[in-house]
Amino acid sequence: MKRRREFAIDISDHVLAPSRKSNKKIIASIQYLSKLFIMPDTPDKFIEFGDALLVMIRDFFQEEGGIHSAISLPDLAGLFAETDPPTDPELITDVLYEIKEKIIRHSVKVGNPYYVGHMTSAIPYFMILIEMIIAALNQNQVKIETAKASTFVEREFLAWMHQLVFRRGTAFYRRTIQNPEIALGNVAVDGTLANLTALWVAREKAFPPRRSFGGVRKEGMAAALAHYGFSSAVVLVSGLAHYSLDKSMDVLGLGSRSLIRIPVNADNQIDCTKLRRKINTLQKKNAKIIAIVGIAGTTETGNIDDLKQLRDIADTCGAHYHVDAAWGGATLLTHRYRHLLDGIDRADSVTIDTHKLFYTPMSMGLVLFRDERDLMRVKYSASYVIRTSSVDQGRFTLEGSRKFDVLKPWASLKVLGTDGFQILFDHAFTLTADLNKIITASANFEVMNTPQLFIHVFRFVPRDLQDVLENLRAANDKTAATGKMQEINSLLNELNVELHRAIRAEDSTFVSRTTLKNTRYAPQPIVVLRSVTVNPLTTRAILEEIIAKQEKMGLSLYSRKYRKRFEKHMA
Ligand SMILES: Cc1ncc(COP(=O)(O)O)c(C=O)c1O
Repeated sequence: MKRRREFAIDISDHVLAPSRKSNKKIIASIQYLSKLFIMPDTPDKFIEFGDALLVMIRDFFQEEGGIHSAISLPDLAGLFAETDPPTDPELITDVLYEIKEKIIRHSVKVGNPYYVGHMTSAIPYFMILIEMIIAALNQNQVKIETAKASTFVEREFLAWMHQLVFRRGTAFYRRTIQNPEIALGNVAVDGTLANLTALWVAREKAFPPRRSFGGVRKEGMAAALAHYGFSSAVVLVSGLAHYSLDKSMDVLGLGSRSLIRIPVNADNQIDCTKLRRKINTLQKKNAKIIAIVGIAGTTETGNIDDLKQLRDIADTCGAHYHVDAAWGGATLLTHRYRHLLDGIDRADSVTIDTHKLFYTPMSMGLVLFRDERDLMRVKYSASYVIRTSSVDQGRFTLEGSRKFDVLKPWASLKVLGTDGFQILFDHAFTLTADLNKIITASANFEVMNTPQLFIHVFRFVPRDLQDVLENLRAANDKTAATGKMQEINSLLNELNVELHRAIRAEDSTFVSRTTLKNTRYAPQPIVVLRSVTVNPLTTRAILEEIIAKQEKMGLSLYSRKYRKRFEKHMA
């Protein structure tokens, strides 16, 4: 009884919904601090505390107004410019109040249905509760001593995903699903680390231990090239590859210049003829081709490489074949769309992000290996964490300590089922097709890609200029026409950058912006607006509103600032 009263005193201060800051002074003591660490023996208060938190989160979602909050970046920086770390403890409720006022208020509403600019979108509400479980259990996936059931959940999920990608047959998965001697893949912090892990394994495969040579991970790249008699080591990928691959090359000591980007065709897919030609040249120069990377959902345009052909090409030069399906991998969950990724089952490794099309909160990547022995090449042990005989998940991961993040996609798949994902992707495909029709029908936009996986690129081009560009493209005097077209496109680039700024400032809709080198105007880089239409809360009517609003802003900008400048070029 005495103990109960002792806990009750301060907890009551903590559970109030934060509507103002109390600034109550707290004297730190071990008695006070220990109450923060242990589960209070007043469970009603604990639940009340959770309720207050959930209300605060729900308020964020319900708040009317802009997507980004109106505060300027310098003003926001000013809110977080306290140079000394806090000394005196504060009540949790005071800190929550500060979180609400200074952080939640100025966070981006990425779940807003009018926010169709990035791969980050709405999440199902139960995910927030699952995150709470992950935090409460505080398992560390590095080893079984700190992650008991969660280790088995991770292996089960990896087997599901492996089967989805590689379809090795029921008998294979029965044998491997919980076999600690086998690694079907890794759960990684994100797609970047998943890609890095794939290239790490590819590098080991290219320069394995042989006779006195201990393998590249022990001896380093210079010794590996000397031992195997190659002049260089390279990885080949399309020009639209995500920059995580450049970083991976850098970290692996291969050098980001050794990531060779092959131009893409008109459908934003790697040009396989140019790839074959490049391989020939490289082999003549005695380069080792460590890996060929295909992309299943390019970051900027959502397009998918010819995954089957890339396997055949990789075989001609003995390269590891990796598919970066960070964006598109989840479509394998559905019968209706898995054909888009045909050939992925012949890859050696595949990256998939769950914080993208699995609709789980930030962040989790997966890297899966068709050959269950591949990850053994990068196995590590340490006497204090993963002993040589251990069966811990941390044996193969680049990360050390790791959250029980896999609970999110594991639970999500159970709650939604693959049938649910089918419906979500049906919706996303319909939205993408709708948007295509809306942009095409509106007189003042030019569509710049044929969308495959929910991403559109387009730009604002006033109607009369579209005709001018069309005529210039068809003109006989190519030199004069190209010069004029470039002048107009440069101005259009400026206009689209400014339009994007205006969209940001107006803040009721959002699309992102990028610059593409491979458009019908290549080699001139073209500034484009980019939409990602995967939010289940977005509708066709919302898309119509978004485009109408952005078109109006474009036209206003054009007549106020640009028409005269364009006229000069059109004369
Ligand atoms: C194709 C592709 N690969 C890799 C990544 C990197 O993933 P992450 O941001 O999870 O590190 C992305 C991110 O957008 C991507 O689109």
